[in-house]
Order: sequence, then C-alpha cells, then structure tokens
Amino acid sequence: MGKDITNHLLFEIATEVANRVGGIYSVLKSKAPVTVAEYKDRYTLIGPLNANSANVEVEELPVLDPVLKRTLDSMSGRGIRYLYGRWLIEGAPRVILFDIGSAAGYLNEWKSDLWNIAGVPTPEHDVETNDAILLGYLVAWFLGELVHNDGHKRAIICHAHEWLAAVCLPLCRKRKIDVTTVFTTHATLLGRYLCAGSVDFYNNLDKFDVDAEAGKRGIYHRYCIERAAAHSADVFTTVSHITAYEAEHLLKRKPDGVLPNGLNVIKFQAVHEFQNLHAEKKEKINEFIRGHFYGQLDFKLNNTLYFFIAGRYEYRNKGVDFFIESLARLNHRLKASNSNMTVVAFIIMPAKTNSYTVETLKGQAVIKQLENTINDIEALVGRRLFEFCQHPATSSNTSHIEMPDIDDLLKPSDRVLLKRRMFAMKREGLPPIVTHNMADDSTDPILNQIRNVQLFNRPEDRVKIIFHPEFLNSNNPILSLDYDEFVRGCHLGVFPSYYEPWGYTPAECTVMGIPSITTNLSGFGCYMEDLIENSSDYGIYIVDRRLKSVDESIDQLTSYMFDFVDKTRRQRINQRNRVERLSDLLDWRRMGLEYVKGRSLALRRAYPDEFKNQNNEHSNPFNESNSIKITRPLSVPGSPRDKYSSSANIMTPGDLGTLQENNSTDYISWRLGNDTEEDGLDVTLRGL
Ligand code: UDP
Ligand code: G6P
Ligand code: GLC
Repeated sequence: MGKDITNHLLFEIATEVANRVGGIYSVLKSKAPVTVAEYKDRYTLIGPLNANSANVEVEELPVLDPVLKRTLDSMSGRGIRYLYGRWLIEGAPRVILFDIGSAAGYLNEWKSDLWNIAGVPTPEHDVETNDAILLGYLVAWFLGELVHNDGHKRAIICHAHEWLAAVCLPLCRKRKIDVTTVFTTHATLLGRYLCAGSVDFYNNLDKFDVDAEAGKRGIYHRYCIERAAAHSADVFTTVSHITAYEAEHLLKRKPDGVLPNGLNVIKFQAVHEFQNLHAEKKEKINEFIRGHFYGQLDFKLNNTLYFFIAGRYEYRNKGVDFFIESLARLNHRLKASNSNMTVVAFIIMPAKTNSYTVETLKGQAVIKQLENTINDIEALVGRRLFEFCQHPATSSNTSHIEMPDIDDLLKPSDRVLLKRRMFAMKREGLPPIVTHNMADDSTDPILNQIRNVQLFNRPEDRVKIIFHPEFLNSNNPILSLDYDEFVRGCHLGVFPSYYEPWGYTPAECTVMGIPSITTNLSGFGCYMEDLIENSSDYGIYIVDRRLKSVDESIDQLTSYMFDFVDKTRRQRINQRNRVERLSDLLDWRRMGLEYVKGRSLALRRAYPDEFKNQNNEHSNPFNESNSIKITRPLSVPGSPRDKYSSSANIMTPGDLGTLQENNSTDYISWRLGNDTEEDGLDVTLRGL
C-alpha cells in the first residue's frame, strides 16, 4: 500500500517550544496560526519541558489519538515523562514537551551510541549538549515508535530547528526511520563564535579551517552535531541567504533553499489605530522616564525621542558596540547644533543581575508618591472649591461675587505635604545608566563602553542612556510593559548587528509601524534591501557594514539617527504610516510559502514514487521556473508577468535570490504607487 502523502503528519522540533529564549520562539509562535490552518491536528511541536514557562504557556490535554497514545504510553512505561497539551497562543497548536531529566539515566548509553554511529564525541560537562542529546534520542525514539504504531501508513515530516534540536536527524537517517526530515538552521555555531571574537568573518568565510576553529573554541562536538544534522536531513535550509552562504562554507552543505521568517501581522480595523497605540504606549514610557530622571527631568518629554536596541546579550554580534559609540557621536552632534531635542536610548538585553537597584525603585516610588499626593490635594481643592461656590462671599456691593483665594483652597498642611514630596525628589547623583544591580558590574562590556564614552545622563547631554538588563514584561514593577507595547511606544529601533542570520527585532518594528535601523549583514536587512529601493524612505535604514570601514559605518549610523531627530512630528507620523504599510511583506501568509516548498521537497525526496505521475518529479520547488522577468524600476506599472503568470509561477519570498537560482531574475511584484497617499508613497503588493 502506498504512503498517504496528502494527510502527512508534521512535527516541528525546537528547544524554544513554549519557552522564550530568542528569535526561534518568535518563529514558532508567530507561524502557528498558518501552520495550524494548514495542518489542523496533524501538526505537533516537540521540545524539552521547561516547567516554569510550560506552567503558564501550556494547557495539559488528554492524549486522544490512539496511535499517539500508544506511542507515548510505551515511552512512559519506560520512565519517560512528558507534557502533552495545547500551547496557549493564537492557533493553539498541540505540543509534546519531554521532561529530559526523566531520560537522564540513558545519557551515557546514548552518548556512546552517538559516538559509534556518527563519530560525535561529547565531553562530560557540557549541559547544553547533553540536553540536546537527550532531546534528540527521545524524539527519534518517539518517531520510530509512532511510525511503527501507525503501520507506516501516513508520511511523517520531522522538521528540526537549530542544532540543539537536531540530534534526531542523524538518528533518523542511521536507523532508517520511515520519516522525511528538514533541518532549518537559524545561525551556524561557528559563525556566531567567530563573529563574537575579532575576526574578519565575511571576507574569510571560504578560508576557515572549520574543524580547527571549532576545536580552538571548545565547540568541536557541538559543531559535529550541527554538521551531522545538515548532512543527514533530507532538506537543509537556513533563514536567509547570508546564512545560507555561510552554511555552505562552514557546514559544507549548500542549503536547498531559504525559509525567511515571517510575522503574524495584525491589521486594525481603523488604519490609524496603530498610531493611537504609539501615543498610548509612549505615555507609559514617559511615566517611567519621570521616575527614572526624578529631580533632574530637565528636558521636555514632548521633545524627547525613544530609541532602543533589544535582544539576547551578544555585545558585538548584535552591534551594541556600534550603538553606544554612535550614541556618543550623536550626543556630540546634537549639542553642537544646539538641538532642543533629547534622545533616551534604551538597551534591553538580559544579563546576570541581582534585581533592581534601590535608586531605580526609589525613582518610581517618589514619583508615584508625588502623583498620589497631588491627586489627594486635587480632590481636597475641588471639594473646597465646590463648598466655596455654594456659599460665595459677597461684598457690600451684592452684585460682586468674591473668587476664592489660593490660600482658601491650598491649606498649610497641603503645602507641607507637597514640600515634603518635592524634597524627596532631590537627588545627589546623576540618574543611573542601569536599572539593575549587575552581577559583573566592573567587567560588563556594555557598562564599560558607556563609561568609556561618558554617557552619564548629565543635564547637558542630549542623549541619555538606560540599560535594562532584563527582558520586558508587563509584570515588572518598574517598566511594566510587554516588549511589543514598549516597541510601539518608542520612536526608533536600532539594530546595527554584525552577525544576524535574520533579526526579528527590526521586522517586529516594521509590522508595528515603528522605523528601525538594521544592517546589510542581517538577513532581514538584506531581504528588505533587495525588495525596496531607498528603504530609508520607508523607515528601514540599512547601515553598510560590508563595504565601509568601522568608522564610516558608525558615522552612517550616527547620521541616520541625527536626521531622524531632525524630523518634525508630522514627518514622524507619516514615516510610521509608510513603515506599517510594509508589513504585508513580512506576513506569514506570504512567507509561509517557503515552508510549504521545503516540506514538499522533503516529501518528494523521501517518497519519490508517490510523485512519479507529476511533472518535475524530483525537482526542487525552491528552483521553480522564473522564465518571465520583472523589470525594475519599481515605479513602472504591472508587467505581463503579473497578468499571465500561472499559479505555479507565482513568486514567493524565498525566490528573491534563492541560492540555487540565477540571481538576475526579479521576482517580487510590487511597486510604489502614484502619490495616492498623504505622504506620496504607497506600496502595493500584488499576487498576495
Ligand atoms: N524580545 C522579547 N523581549 C524583550 C526583548 C526582545 O521577547 O524584552 C524578543 C523579540 O521580540 C525578538 C527576540 O527577542 O523576537 C529576538 O529575536 P532576534 O531574531 O532579533 O534575535 P535572536 O535572539 O534570535 O538572535
Ligand atoms: C500618534 C498619535 C498622535 C501623536 C503622535 C506623537 O501619531 O496619533 O496623536 O501626536 O503619535 O508622535 P511622536 O512621534 O511625537 O511620538
Ligand atoms: C537566531 C538568529 C536570529 C534569527 C532567529 C530566528 O537566533 O540569531 O537572527 O532572527 O534565530 O530565525
């Protein structure tokens, strides 16, 4: 009997299932609605159980599917614990979270097996690798049993993200488990490590002695897992072309295609709703600023712009070094030009801390107290005024009514209270540059660079800086906003990354209508650069970190920020409108097509017989024919390609310079409209 390809099952494996660490969580979470819409209950995510996050993100469910139940029962009969349930996000996909601790007893056996079958050595105390092995063996065990229990009826796709979740791939291949596999790498280990050092990475990509470099950095065993995964998967993909190029050199397999990251784009009923949200969330940031700068709020919030960088703490890779240096230059330029604007730059990057500093907590407390006192006094004054007006004092001339004196309304006790609050706002030092007690204060690279460039929040500084070494959360006592609310309230995201396979942060800014700065070394930056001419018109500024010197790139970044500060409010509002209109470009409904292609290729490769009646039997859908060329410039109206193309030829995001096609073809059909909008720029995406 042939395989049921149509109703195939899809398992996606990752360590960030219902567990936020970085961008992979964003991929899985934002993609869930489109994947669930396509697969319904044939889609399940698998990851390690992290009790803290699972407790709040996953609702446990009974296992009803008999095949799945038999498989999980059999595993639990041998001591494996798991949580099966619904991930409480849009789309509500099913998840299986394995408690890898429950498999710890198998670790040594599995490690020696990995050495025997794949020659991957594993040192004793690398917890991350041990966890990756436990997860990989559990997944392979699960899939092996599932295939068996299903009687090999339905085709199964196992799609693993990143090396940490990819040990299952060489195992599936070695054990000949009847599944087809996809490996998507969201970075390469060597790339991340080499870039974090002081290596001229991009100019030497083809020259590195990969084994030696991995060995020098103590990650040879991890590198072996990553490389084994790349080579044993039926289909190998990355998240951007820049990472595909890197993977080809460092992992020695040319990816089959690129799966760029999308977002779950939410369209508001009222077009300007996102602008209102900006104003609303900015007010929340203003509240925080009032507390943080208490006693020294010598700048006007109405003339203040909020810039930020956010992400995992990778000082060089994420370009924090560039950000701080360019902020110092910006400060200098703003002072020199006597600007009346102030920039508050936030750095949101988790580091080891011992909670908030007393000064930070105090700042918010004194402002809160002042506000409460004023509210109380306001109520009293109102009541007194009310009383007064009911019994107005009249003079001898009865037609004249006396108005109350300020002393009648504001009593001495109120004044004392107000004075006390105002005294409490006096402070000796400058407003702090960091909100938390850092565990490694004296060696922290971000703090040290801030000290070096002396951005100390002095009154004369036009650029103020606040390092918040913890991800944002609306339950935080200090800056109580979720990350997306914070982004909405800011004016500009600044992400001058050196190593960034994709980079969700600027993409998230885009769909929220917030301008951002990225680089031509980030997957997202390259993607947008390919799509948009003069992307800065659309509020996506791309710093050239490829061809310019470090100094020139920092100057370019400074100029982008300086010019941004120079914009009027009207110009900022217009720019936000333009940015937001780009969001369709990043919608999973469009980006998800590459995932469809990747899976289809995996099925074709594993089960060629099922496809033999179709044309292009073993063809790579990433290489779809692109015979009809769309020409730029972008301002020209629609081309014949749009009108006559068959659906098989519809362009998709990965077509844009996919590794394996010829790059001279222009695929994405879109144009700038003819001044239909208030600001004269309009993006029309066709073929969506
Ligand atoms: N992020 C977050 N809370 C924060 C700051 C950042 O959840 O306070 C998220 C952000 O939404 C983004 C992710 O962290 O989705 C970072 O992903 P990116 O792809 O930019 O970088 P990665 O960390 O994966 O290298
Ligand atoms: C949004 C609101 C406006 C507000 C503006 C502030 O556009 O709809 O009412 O004036 O934000 O913009 P700004 O760039 O100064 O924060
Ligand atoms: C990785 C990369 C990041 C990317 C994310 C999601 O963590 O560092 O650039 O956006 O994965 O693909």
